[in-house]
Amino acid sequence: MNDINILGIETSCDETAAAVVRNGNEVLSDIINSQIYIHQKYGGVVPEIASRQHVENIGLVVAEALRSAGVSFPDIDAVAVTNRPGLIGALLVGLSYAKALAYGLNKPFVGVNHLEGHIYANFIEHPAIKFPLICLLVSGGHTSLIYMENFQNTRLLGATRDDAAGEAFDKVSRFLGLGYPGGPAIEKVSAQGTAGLYTLPRPYLDKNNFEFSFSGLKTAAMNMYNKLNKDGSLNVCDLAAEFQEALVEVLAEKTFKAALRFSVPNVLIAGGVAANSRLREMMRLKSETLDIPLFFPSVKMCTDNAAMIAGLGYHHYKRKNFARLDLNAYPGL
Ligand code: KG4
Ligand code: ZN
Repeated sequence: MNDINILGIETSCDETAAAVVRNGNEVLSDIINSQIYIHQKYGGVVPEIASRQHVENIGLVVAEALRSAGVSFPDIDAVAVTNRPGLIGALLVGLSYAKALAYGLNKPFVGVNHLEGHIYANFIEHPAIKFPLICLLVSGGHTSLIYMENFQNTRLLGATRDDAAGEAFDKVSRFLGLGYPGGPAIEKVSAQGTAGLYTLPRPYLDKNNFEFSFSGLKTAAMNMYNKLNKDGSLNVCDLAAEFQEALVEVLAEKTFKAALRFSVPNVLIAGGVAANSRLREMMRLKSETLDIPLFFPSVKMCTDNAAMIAGLGYHHYKRKNFARLDLNAYPGL
C-alpha cells in the first residue's frame, strides 16, 4: 500500500498550525504558532487580530511543517483544513490558503470539523480504543457528552446549557486576575491551594440527564471572590482550587454515569480542557474504580493543533470525501 501524506491546516482560533501526518496516525511534523502572548493583554482572543496574525504566519508555519517532516509539496497527497466551527475570519484564512495550495498543486482537499479533530487526536495516539464509547468533549466553546457507535454513528447525549467548561475557566480566571488562557492559569494556582476550604456548587450533578451548566458555578465563584475580598480573607489559590474541583467533579461523574448507563468498553476525553491534570486524575480514578478503560490525548494534542486535522483528513481522503473549491467556513456547527 502506498503511503498517504496529508498536510493539515488549522486556524480556527488563536493558533496558526500545520502538520504532516502519514496514513492517519504517523505524525511527521506538528507545528503550532501560538498568538496567546498577543491576545493576553486584552484578556481574551480578539478575532480581528487573530485573523491578521494567521495571514502573517500561515506561509511560514506550512513551510516549517514540510521542512520538519522532511517532505516537499509534491509528496503531499491532499490538504486537510478546519472549516468549522471557529472564528469566521480566522477560519477563512486557513481555508483560503488550503484551497489555493490544493488548486496550485492540483491535489484534492478536504474540510474537517474542528471538534471531530479533537476527538480524533485520541485515535492518533491510542490505536487500541474500542467502540462503542462515551466521549467527553470539553473545549473553549463546547462541552458535550457523545455516544459513539463508530465514527459515522454518533449521538449527542447532552451538552452545556450555557457556558462551556473552558469558557468558565477563562471567565473566572479573568475575574480572579489570573489572565488568559484561564484553564492553565487556574490549574497552576490551584496546585498551591486546597479545594474544600470554600464551598461552591456542583451544578447538575444530581440531575438525571447528561447536560451541564457552568454559568451558575462561575457566578458563585465571582460572588465568593467579591465577598471574601471585601472582608480581607480571600485566598485566591483556595478559591481557584475549589472552582476547578467543582467543575471537574461534575464532568467526571457525569461522564462515567453515561459509560455505565450505556455499558461501553471505553471512555475518551478530548479538547483543550482535557489537558487539565485534575480532570485527568479524577477521570483516571473513576476509570480504575469502575474498570472502564479511559483514554486521553497527550497535553500537546489536547489543545488546538493541525496533526488532529491531518489525521482525520486522511479518513476523508480514503472515503474520497473531497471538498469543492466553493467550500465555505462556518462559525457554528
Ligand atoms: O480546544 P481548545 O484549545 O480550543 C477550542 O477549540 O476551544 O480549548 C481551549 C480552552 C480554553 O478555554 C482554555 O482555558 C482551556 O481550553 N484549557 C484548559 C487547560 N488548557 C487549556 N482548561 C483547564 N485546564 C487546562 N490545563
Ligand atoms: Zn479546539
